[in-house]
Amino acid sequence: MNLIVANESHFKYAHDICDTIADSAKVRGTGIAKRTPEYIQKKLANGNAVLALDGDKFAGFCYIEVWGHEKFVANSGLIVHPDYRGQGLAKRIKAKIFDLSREKFPDAKIFGITTGLAVMKINNDLGYKPVTFSELTDDPEFWKGCQTCKNFDILTRTEQKMCLCTGMLYDGTSKKKVEESKEMNGKAFTRLKSIKESLFLRKKEEKSK
Ligand SMILES: CC(C)(COP(=O)(O)OP(=O)(O)OC[C@H]1O[C@@H](n2cnc3c(N)ncnc32)[C@H](O)[C@@H]1OP(=O)(O)O)[C@@H](O)C(=O)NCCC(=O)NCCS
Repeated sequence: MNLIVANESHFKYAHDICDTIADSAKVRGTGIAKRTPEYIQKKLANGNAVLALDGDKFAGFCYIEVWGHEKFVANSGLIVHPDYRGQGLAKRIKAKIFDLSREKFPDAKIFGITTGLAVMKINNDLGYKPVTFSELTDDPEFWKGCQTCKNFDILTRTEQKMCLCTGMLYDGTSKKKVEESKEMNGKAFTRLKSIKESLFLRKKEEKSK
């Protein structure tokens, strides 16, 4: 398996990447910010994406987004092709995009929002902490990405204070060491997620009655 910082020569993978992201979101039944192949190609072209290739076959992907005049970066669009899951590939991709983010944007805080336990675990290992949305970028362009998520009405209803996703932040500027991070309590996260779902999704159903 080859993990590389992608470039224009990898444009041919953009459709595959978008289709795999969209298909996985359908299977999980969760919301997702939609990405077009053109958007992915921009990330490939500017050296802000990591691609995992098994020979010539697309196996996984993640990219960097820059927000709030480089005060924040997000590592987004993480996807591992179903054929390559459960082998630690997402962990390797996230570690590589994390290093690339710190190298290219050393003064930025790194953040992500996710409903996925796997991503929570990986982020926790990298030294991210769960935070409220108030600690993340207020760049409207970032939050606009949520408009294509099926849970966007929740984010609107809460005036962008909370949603089904959990915000996680790595603040390299606070000088906290990664080794200090404690093991994540997966059960607590799963419980938090189900509380949020029953709280927000019930309200949503009541509203639509
Ligand atoms: C989520 C995803 C990226 C994980 O890829 P992967 O290569 O199978 O993950 P890894 O093998 O590196 O596993 C990393 C950790 O997550 C855990 N994990 C993996 N899949 C999991 C799942 N579905 N539920 C809970 N934990 C999971 C692993 O056990 C591992 O934890 P550990 O360090 O405690 O052993 C992959 O399933 C995927 O592409 N899913 C669809 C897209 C998606 O959900 N993207 C995230 C959007 S925020």
